Amino acid sequence: MKKVYLETYGCQMNVSDSERVATQLVSNGFEIVAEQTDADVVLLNTCSVREKAEQKLYTRVGQIRAAAPPPPVNSKTGGAPLIGVMGCVAQLEGESIFARRAAASSGNNNGGIDFIVGTKAVGRIISTIEKALDGRRNFVDLGKRDDDYEWTVSPAQRQSPHVAFVPIIEGCNKFCTYCIVPFSRGREKSLPAAEILREVELLKNQNVREVHLIGQNVNSYRPSSDAGLESFRGATAFSRLLRAVAVTGIERVKFTTSFPRDFHPDIVDAIDEHENLCNWVHLPVQSGSNEVLKAMRRGHTIESYLEKIDKINSSHKDIAVSSDIIVGFPGETDKNFKDTLKMAEYCRFDSAYIFKYSPRLETPAARMENQISESVKTERFLELEKIVRKSQEAALKKHLGATLEVLAERVSSKNIDELSGHTTCHKIVNFKATGVLPGSVVPVRITAAKTNTLYGEAIG
Ligand code: 5AD
Ligand code: SF4
Repeated sequence: MKKVYLETYGCQMNVSDSERVATQLVSNGFEIVAEQTDADVVLLNTCSVREKAEQKLYTRVGQIRAAAPPPPVNSKTGGAPLIGVMGCVAQLEGESIFARRAAASSGNNNGGIDFIVGTKAVGRIISTIEKALDGRRNFVDLGKRDDDYEWTVSPAQRQSPHVAFVPIIEGCNKFCTYCIVPFSRGREKSLPAAEILREVELLKNQNVREVHLIGQNVNSYRPSSDAGLESFRGATAFSRLLRAVAVTGIERVKFTTSFPRDFHPDIVDAIDEHENLCNWVHLPVQSGSNEVLKAMRRGHTIESYLEKIDKINSSHKDIAVSSDIIVGFPGETDKNFKDTLKMAEYCRFDSAYIFKYSPRLETPAARMENQISESVKTERFLELEKIVRKSQEAALKKHLGATLEVLAERVSSKNIDELSGHTTCHKIVNFKATGVLPGSVVPVRITAAKTNTLYGEAIG
């Protein structure tokens, strides 16, 4: 039985693709192994959203090859693993990956990478691996998704037996000027609602407690037919889908990522109406300055964004909001950056990921004048981080002494006497409990709050 080691970088879409690849591999007689050194085939599922993420691929291939150099050309695997590249870097770079790695390594003509599988070609991973195991080198498949692509993930291959990712929309049409995703993931394509609902029912029957509806922009969801949504009202297809998923009765429903322009207030109404639609929204703002938002081509202004924040804050459910913010976008002035600080003060995010702008080849922003120096990006990052830290800390501390419902997901990696899980508002809680099995939702009294985590004790 051939052994495959699968390593995943980047967003939940990549995690979800890896789960599906693992499912196909196992049902075709491969074994998934936990150590790269035990593998006949190493698959790297890559991310290209920022330069650092992309660079990781080349570093990892170097490390894997240093541990086991590639066999001579024309021999079959010869003891060293085959290396295949999947994901966004694979899609964007195609066969130029061979040359880039070869230039960085010592003379091997494919740089130690054996095959490349684009983001839509993952359904053909088995035949690609078989070709490589048969001695074929430098095989590249950047083709389209097959019509009969199997979206279902086997329970054994999910990251967690209790939490499942359900893709509802693939790709992105927005073309924000800094972003590579529309190129690596292609145009938006919504999955049929009836299929999504069937999947959620199936997961519920498998005892999954929490589903995450995922996509680059979930609220741009626009299926080609109404099938499955007929009896659900809503201002947009996405809020109708939310109501339909809620009615399956699955314990918890979360969704990510939301695109501000398409974030209709009816989404908040749906959350208010249904107990199992969780009180957490991830709504990337990117900047607090209208000038910068315009240059980013985000399609929203800061005023329209704050209106959405106000609507979210008006919910009776205390909805947590997280966000993404880019500092040092080309042309960002001190005044523009001050507007971002002001925005962060106003929004008081439960958490926000801050990124220094990273030029991505082929995107319009990479060619813009007035690129910002690394030192200014770092200064701005640190200044914004202070504000975000404060609101994050406050958002954790407000739960001290309260009792929160926590889904026990696993034994804590920091302390084997504790369990770890998430609240409905997506905060991590590590807690002491006796007789609680992972997979149950338990009331936990919160006793401490540190950087990103709450601590507590299960009640009863
Ligand atoms: N530079 C820095 N951050 C970026 N992001 C996307 N593209 C870039 C880039 N070129 C950030 C955005 C997005 C998150 C997933 O990554 O904030 O929301
Ligand atoms: Fe990238 Fe913008 Fe699409 Fe998000 S919405 S994936 S930032 S292009």
